Amino acid sequence: MDFEGKNVLVTGGAGFIGSALVRELLKENANVYVLDNFLSGSRENLKECEKGITIIEADVRDKALADIFSKNDIEFVFHLAAMPYIPECYTKPAEFFEINAVGTLNVMLACKKAGVRRVLQYSTSEVYGTAKYLPMDESHPINPHSTYATSKVAADRLCFTLYHEQQVPVIILRQFNTYGPRETHPYIIPEIISQLSRGSTLHLGNINAKRDFTYVCDAARAAIELMKHKEAEGQVFNSGYGKCWSIKEIAEIIAEIMGVHDLKIVVEKQRLRPLDVQVLEANYFKLFRLTGWKPKVSFEEGLQKTIEWFNENGKRWPWEK
Ligand SMILES: NC(=O)c1ccc[n+]([C@@H]2O[C@H](COP(=O)([O-])OP(=O)(O)OC[C@H]3O[C@@H](n4cnc5c(N)ncnc54)[C@H](O)[C@@H]3O)[C@@H](O)[C@H]2O)c1
Repeated sequence: MDFEGKNVLVTGGAGFIGSALVRELLKENANVYVLDNFLSGSRENLKECEKGITIIEADVRDKALADIFSKNDIEFVFHLAAMPYIPECYTKPAEFFEINAVGTLNVMLACKKAGVRRVLQYSTSEVYGTAKYLPMDESHPINPHSTYATSKVAADRLCFTLYHEQQVPVIILRQFNTYGPRETHPYIIPEIISQLSRGSTLHLGNINAKRDFTYVCDAARAAIELMKHKEAEGQVFNSGYGKCWSIKEIAEIIAEIMGVHDLKIVVEKQRLRPLDVQVLEANYFKLFRLTGWKPKVSFEEGLQKTIEWFNENGKRWPWEK
């Protein structure tokens, strides 16, 4: 199956991963629709592809979602819209649940009502909590550490149940950490790049935490390849790079690429997260076995591309403008 000429909708398509997914879908010659309320995403993220796509400004909690899908003959839905930035959930737990869990329920029921052929729930490795064994496969225990992760567990489980109970044709993809151009929140990689563009001293939190990082275009391709497989419906798949780096190691690699030779790292207590996840590393073999997908962009290459993008775009991330 391919997406040529098919009507494909991306919720959260104006965001960081969503806008990369839109670009990859355009390469597949899909008719791309973006549904976004621009909470953290922006039209700017879709700048050079805006002419080839249809942008619908709407909220995933909108009760008229099924009508939007029907009116546009939507065949496939990638559901990415969410509040994803963990530090924000400490002050807005109810909003995280409203959008990430209740919003997902609304999207899934709208897909059913509108007769959407297949929908992909974009989940996260955060549902697992810190690793009990490495690398982490889909059978790893679920132990969310934040309200964000808990809201995504609720959404995941809801999708699994709706597949069995309501025959919603949904696939669940648990993506490990992602990085690249057009980041929308001060995650660790954009934060390090930004700080090192201004000087050689980094102010960071937990530098011993380890994460598995996938370049955003590879992450987008994983979702596209998985969506092509009907047999994936009702199942959970991991996507990631398959290797983890500590924040300290990442800082050193970025410093090297940016030509910072006198790197100093200051650990600040106020940057430490309550109940932080210590280690995440993906086992994506199930996804590879079904689709043949594996990451193409090495970590160093991806960081290089991200830094280039940052330099070419005013050396400021959106939240710094
Ligand atoms: N960034 C990562 O490393 C990562 C890793 C794993 C999973 N995820 C998941 O990927 C998805 C996208 O995250 P991202 O990192 O691109 O963040 P993002 O904030 O850039 O993207 C979220 C998008 O959803 C939109 N949105 C938010 N609330 C909405 C609502 N009520 N209705 C319609 N649109 C709404 C935002 O405007 C934004 O465009 C999320 O579901 C997140 O949980 C992200």
